[in-house]
This record gives sequence, C-alpha cells and structure tokens, in this order.
Amino acid sequence: MKSYSVSFNKRSRLNRMPEIGQETGGLLQPLDPGGLTERLSTSLMIENDFYPCFDWTFPPPLLNKSEPPASVNDLFRHASVIPDAFSLYLHSPFCKSLCSFCYYTIIPGRGIEKAEHYVDYLLREMKMYAEVMHDKKCESIYFGGGTPTFLDDHLLAKLFEGINKHFNLADDVEISIESSPGTLARSKVELLTSLGINRLSYGIQTLDEKLLASMNRHYSVDEALKELDVALALIGNVNVDTMYGFENESEYALQDSLQKFYDLGVPSLSIYALDRQRDNKSKKIGLPPKDESYKDKIRIFSEADQFLFRKGYRPILQNVYAIPGKSSYRHQVRRWDNLSLISLGVAAQGYTPRTPYQNYPALKSYYRAIDEGRLPIVTVDRLSAEMELIREVSSQLRFTQIDLDSIAHKYGVDLNVVFADLIHSLIELGYLKRELNTLRMTPNAAYYNNIIPMLFAPDAFSQQLLGLPEEYLDAFPVPSVMVQVGCTQSAPIEVSLRE
Ligand SMILES: C[S@@+](CC[C@H](N)C(=O)[O-])C[C@H]1O[C@@H](n2cnc3c(N)ncnc32)[C@H](O)[C@@H]1O
Ligand code: SF4
Repeated sequence: MKSYSVSFNKRSRLNRMPEIGQETGGLLQPLDPGGLTERLSTSLMIENDFYPCFDWTFPPPLLNKSEPPASVNDLFRHASVIPDAFSLYLHSPFCKSLCSFCYYTIIPGRGIEKAEHYVDYLLREMKMYAEVMHDKKCESIYFGGGTPTFLDDHLLAKLFEGINKHFNLADDVEISIESSPGTLARSKVELLTSLGINRLSYGIQTLDEKLLASMNRHYSVDEALKELDVALALIGNVNVDTMYGFENESEYALQDSLQKFYDLGVPSLSIYALDRQRDNKSKKIGLPPKDESYKDKIRIFSEADQFLFRKGYRPILQNVYAIPGKSSYRHQVRRWDNLSLISLGVAAQGYTPRTPYQNYPALKSYYRAIDEGRLPIVTVDRLSAEMELIREVSSQLRFTQIDLDSIAHKYGVDLNVVFADLIHSLIELGYLKRELNTLRMTPNAAYYNNIIPMLFAPDAFSQQLLGLPEEYLDAFPVPSVMVQVGCTQSAPIEVSLRE
C-alpha cells in the first residue's frame, strides 16, 4: 500500500492515506430510488468518525494527486467561477508554547528566532503571485497559524508593507489575524489596527482555570480576559475560539465560558470539539483511533447551540456563531464559494480554479523551492468541473446550508433534478430540511454531518473509492458509507458556467 507523505502534520492520519488503485474493485451499486431511504438508514448507523471532524474538506484527501504546477499561470489554467476576486491566506507557524491538545505543526518557544528568515521567504512567495493577481481584487486576508501575533512588530509591519505592495486590496477588505493570550499587549493591538487589521480571532479555549492549567498554555484566565478587553475596545470585530470534550472537563465548563464571553460583549464565538483523530497511537497503519466520547460531545454541542441561540447568536459556519451585524465572516464564508484562495507559507492550503493545492509542510523544502524559483507547492488535485461544483455544494451544506437557486444560477445545474432521490430520502429520514429552495441539515444529522454532504459526490468519484484497499474501507466510515450507499445521482451533472 502506498502512502502519502504530504500532510502538514506528522501525527496526522492523513499521512497514512492510501492511494486509490488503478483497479476499481467492481461496480458501484446502481441507484435504486425505491430502496435508497432503506439503504441510507442502514448505512448511517455507525457512530464513529463522523463527528466532529476538525478539518473536513471536499473532496476528501483520497484522490491520486497531480504534479505541482509549473507556474502561477498554470495554477490558473481553468476559468474561475469568480474571476475578478480572490482572497489571501498567510501562515505563521510560531507559537509561545505547544498546547497539549494541538496537532498543528508549529514551532514553539525559541523557534521564533527563525521568524525573520521565514518572513523574508513569505515576501518572496508573495512576489511570485503578484503579476498574475494584479487585475483581481483581494476581498479578504486571513493571517493564521500558529500564533501570528507572536511575531515581532517590525516583522508584522514588513509583511503588511509587502501585501500592500504586491496585491490590489478591495476598499472594504476584511483582514483577520489569529492570536492567543500572552501575545496581545495593548501596543500589539494598536499596531494591528494601524496595519488595517479589522478582525481578530482569539483562541481562549476555556475560562475554567483548572482545565486551562492542563493545556500547557502558560497564562491565567485573568490575563486572557484583560487582553480580550482591550481587543474588544480597539477592534470590536472579535471572535473567540472555545473548546470542549476534554477528559477532565467539568459538566458546565463550556457553557460557563460562553456565558462569560456573552456578558463581556464578544460578538462571535467558535466552539471546537476536541479532535483526537490525528493522534493515532494505533500500531496498525491507517487505522484511526475510536473516539468513545461522541455522545458527550454531541450533548455538549447541542446545549451550547441552544444556549447561544437564546442569547441572540446565529450559526455562521457549522461551529461558529455570531450576533448578526456585529462581526464579519467574509473570508470563511467565501472559502466555500470556490473563490480563489492564494495561500502563502509553510503547509498552507490554497485553492485556484478547480485546483486545491498544498504547500510544502517542512521549512527546509519550502525554502528550497523558493530558492530554486519554484512555487513551494508540494501537491495539487485537478478537479473536474463537476467536482468543483460539488465542492461548493457539499461544503456549503456542511458549513450551513445550500441555496439551490444560487447554485443553478452559478453553474446551470438544478440539484433538485440531479440529486432528486437523495434529497427526497434524506428529508424522509429527517436529516435534511427544505425551506423554499434552501437545504440544511437538521440537528438529527449531527452524528453524520461529515458524511451526509459527501453523499452528494458525483457517482464517478464514489466509484473510485471502490479502488481503496478493503481494510481501509472497513476502518474509515466515511468512504465505507459512500460505497455502501452506492450511486446517488439521479441525473447527469452538466455544468455550464454563467458568462
Ligand atoms: C489554528 S488554531 C490557532 C489559533 C491560536 N494559535 C490559538 O491557540 O488560539 C485555531 C483553533 O483551533 C482549535 N484547535 C486546535 N487544536 C484542536 C484540536 N485538537 N481539536 C479541536 N480544535 C482544536 C482551537 O480552538 C484554536 O483556537
Ligand atoms: S497557540 Fe494555537 S496553534 Fe499554537 S499550539 Fe496552541 S492551539 Fe496550537
């Protein structure tokens, strides 16, 4: 069995993702409209690996990857469904310390000494894209990590000087930065606002002092709240990340934290279920660990969901809530519209028309590519036009809802026809709800919110899954359910992009 070695994290099970073989392993069961509801209900019975999945993407990382692009023009070889605009992501891998739960590849503590060098390469990478992007407007910038606010002031200033020099920013560009407590003194917040940053995503995780002490984060609840106070006063447009599902977590830890954030006037809150899927201690290659705490996580999530609703927050993404009109989410929402996302930095994941791509996950190879005048891209997926459409459909469904009219308008495809039987059966089972021409998943679909959107994959893609090794299909519920359900398309997909 061949394995990928391209994932951005050494602990990631994605490292052990097998390639789909040339042999298809037989034919996918043809669509049986009369029996589809029954088939779905028996296949959607596995209570593992569906929820929560922290880094869900469509298509799932199962396809055979293509060679890196020869140039930026090659990355844009297909027409974009949104030709005049793009968004930008920058990645900084440095953090004060490695939090006990975090599986990102980060460079903790003294590693920050490498930051000056790293920023120079980010600027060089930026320059590679400048010419091709100059006639498009940059709608949003997201500076993530790691902890980008851990960078020295002069490096942040240098990066923003580069961004302004190389890209054409929209007048109302949304610029977000991620931060965590201990890196956000008042002077830093003042610098951020002077650089044009108008949105902060601040990871506090919990206000439970005992739980915090187990996270290797080295600050007190009080210190975090003081920094938050300044950020709310100077930036206002602040999202706070919280987490739940820890072994030593008290029953009301999440709700108590959310209540406090609400009292402080935080306009937007993200709630992340602790994801241990990548922390694979199993000796067997490719097998994910079983997470026995799904039921608890779903209970905590549902209680938080209801609590936030009562307080006036509304879901923006699957795990992100905001008080309407008080914060912005352009970057995250547009990500699922197939807008191009130029991603810079080590391990960054970007998207150009019909082409998801990933940068080198290690600094050495990232630097080497740039030194050799190549884009530091390690791998791309080349999607068909149908797959790009379904990327938008399934991502939107998972992250909130799909508006069938806007899909028909943008791609010339009526999903009511293409997935008539699937939509009918999922509504009959109580997993999908239709409001006019909008589809959204119901709370009953909570266990399955990673798999149900995948069922909208084109049959040709699901057919390829039969080429996965059998033991892999046994171990991973998502592709195995796709295979068990069989074909789900009621009519061919014929994309015709609006001119
Ligand atoms: C990209 S991280 C970085 C943000 C920032 N460095 C911080 O710590 O707040 C964004 C968020 O991912 C969440 N996260 C990190 N590791 C996670 C895990 N193992 N399971 C679930 N959520 C996780 C945390 O809530 C974190 O704030
Ligand atoms: S500060 Fe954020 S990115 Fe860094 S280790 Fe902690 S959770 Fe991960």
